[in-house]
Amino acid sequence: MNRNKLSRRTLLLGGVAGILSACSASASSTSVPAATAEPKPTEFPSAQPTNVMSAMPDAGRAPSKDFVPDVELALMATRAEVQLMAGKPTRVFTYQAQVLKGSAESAVALPNSPLGPVIRVKQGQKVRINFTNSLPGKDDASVIHWHGLMLPEDMDGHPRFAIAPGQSYAYEFEVVNRAGTYWFHPHPHGQTARQVYNGLAGMFIVSDAEEAALGLPSDEFDVPLIVQDRTFDKNNQLAYFGQGMMAGAMETLMGFRGEKVVMNGQPDYKLEVSKRAYRLRVLNGSNARIYKLAWGDGTPLTVIGTDGGLLEKPITREFAMLAPGERIELWADFSDHVLGNEVTLESLAFAGAEDPAEEMKGMMGSSSAMTKTQSMSGMGAGTAPSTQPDTRLGAPMTLVTIRVTKEANESPKLPKTLAKPSFYTVASAINTDQPRTFELKQKNMQWFINGRQWEMDKAAADETVKADTLEVWEIVNAISPGEQMHTLGMAHPFHIHGVQFQVLERKLLDDKLLKLAYATVSDGYVNEGWKDTVMLMPGERAKLLIKFGKHTGLFAYHCHNLEHEDMGMMRNYKVVA
Ligand code: C2O
Ligand code: CU
Ligand code: CU
Repeated sequence: MNRNKLSRRTLLLGGVAGILSACSASASSTSVPAATAEPKPTEFPSAQPTNVMSAMPDAGRAPSKDFVPDVELALMATRAEVQLMAGKPTRVFTYQAQVLKGSAESAVALPNSPLGPVIRVKQGQKVRINFTNSLPGKDDASVIHWHGLMLPEDMDGHPRFAIAPGQSYAYEFEVVNRAGTYWFHPHPHGQTARQVYNGLAGMFIVSDAEEAALGLPSDEFDVPLIVQDRTFDKNNQLAYFGQGMMAGAMETLMGFRGEKVVMNGQPDYKLEVSKRAYRLRVLNGSNARIYKLAWGDGTPLTVIGTDGGLLEKPITREFAMLAPGERIELWADFSDHVLGNEVTLESLAFAGAEDPAEEMKGMMGSSSAMTKTQSMSGMGAGTAPSTQPDTRLGAPMTLVTIRVTKEANESPKLPKTLAKPSFYTVASAINTDQPRTFELKQKNMQWFINGRQWEMDKAAADETVKADTLEVWEIVNAISPGEQMHTLGMAHPFHIHGVQFQVLERKLLDDKLLKLAYATVSDGYVNEGWKDTVMLMPGERAKLLIKFGKHTGLFAYHCHNLEHEDMGMMRNYKVVA
């Protein structure tokens, strides 16, 4: 039983609580008999096949004498074992953190979890993070990307700055972002998916004066919730891709989907709360799974923030879509609950995020069945025998069970207005009526952006932007007629490093199947806030308004389906002065 009370007192500093021991040096490779359907344990396996060369590990970076940090952390990527369920402990990768300078709250481990730490800093602070790569294998070059932050190119965690095991890299930067829920994860090219899957990811929470004045729930009432999906083998070990050549190729094409939800790294996560208001920071740290968040009791969600911080004012949604890389902040008030009450945060069923051509066939002519919150757990059941776990994108899942266990004397009230997000107007863009277009498309079981794939240190002429300019980008999730698989494509979360953007508009191709699929998710988009990752359904296009910063150099943009990213569905854009 995992009953987690996220009180500060129970959070241990300087490492991951509950980790039993570091793994012994050599993980023997298990050979799996060809006849079993048991998924192959990862054993921290070497790379997934990739069509692009891995980064040549750089020699690292020493701390600079001229930089005087307000907060200094040591962060080591290493192996560990953690007791996630009854029986054998699970071998994981983890970041072990230590606060070297600054408040003890600057880095707090998540109890009994491979994930974390949760880093908390203030806008304007200078931060140094001494990263050491202590991962075991020759494929374990790594680098930390600070997802959502605006940083110089050599601090952003671009794949070309990956370091080999045994090396260190000192990240040094000033936090300029507004208050918000950002995060960090590995970004070595071709290995990102596997390293994140094995447990490397944490939250990076920024606060600022505007937010502090609101008196939002804080400390133990401000709760990180990192949602992921995993498949465990019968020995409690993380299993990554299934067996067989085709299984690998097909799963890579769609991205990995686990059969079990893990929240903050733990299966069957339970949270105990008091009768008062909470701030829930939900991050989708999954490799490829998209969630359709909703309360199990049908209460609408109160959304207060997105990727880049607080909204102007709270909004309500019956459900909210959360694709890999995206964050959403919820206001959850348990004041009216009776002690002992339980409420769940669910991912509702949705359809057509992959292969709408296949999945929607049975739905044709019965569009009344597509009303939004209706359970569609029966959909596509013909392809998934009931004895098998349902790993389809869009399968319903319970994400966390929340139990109201304590009285509370007082509770903050939901503010009517939250923040001044200072949005830009499209008229002030340099290309208001001529968006720069990026087409996401499949060819021969590979994904492309404008017909190209990843190149480590290049950006094309049409990927070059000027520092400090405002641009309109149009991202087009194109269909792929004539391909063997996924002729109508699939959903992609499109992410751009080094910026926050506004979603100006969305449009869908005029197609009956695509519309049916779209109707199951589109009311769950939150376009009202700053974003760095935007989900696009098959056949959908979105116009983004992007303010490029002052830092010149190469920055990545990519699909945040991590298997897609590793496959090369990633490019650089270049910022010039
Ligand atoms: Cu969170 Cu380049 O990604
Ligand atoms: Cu990023
Ligand atoms: Cu993708």
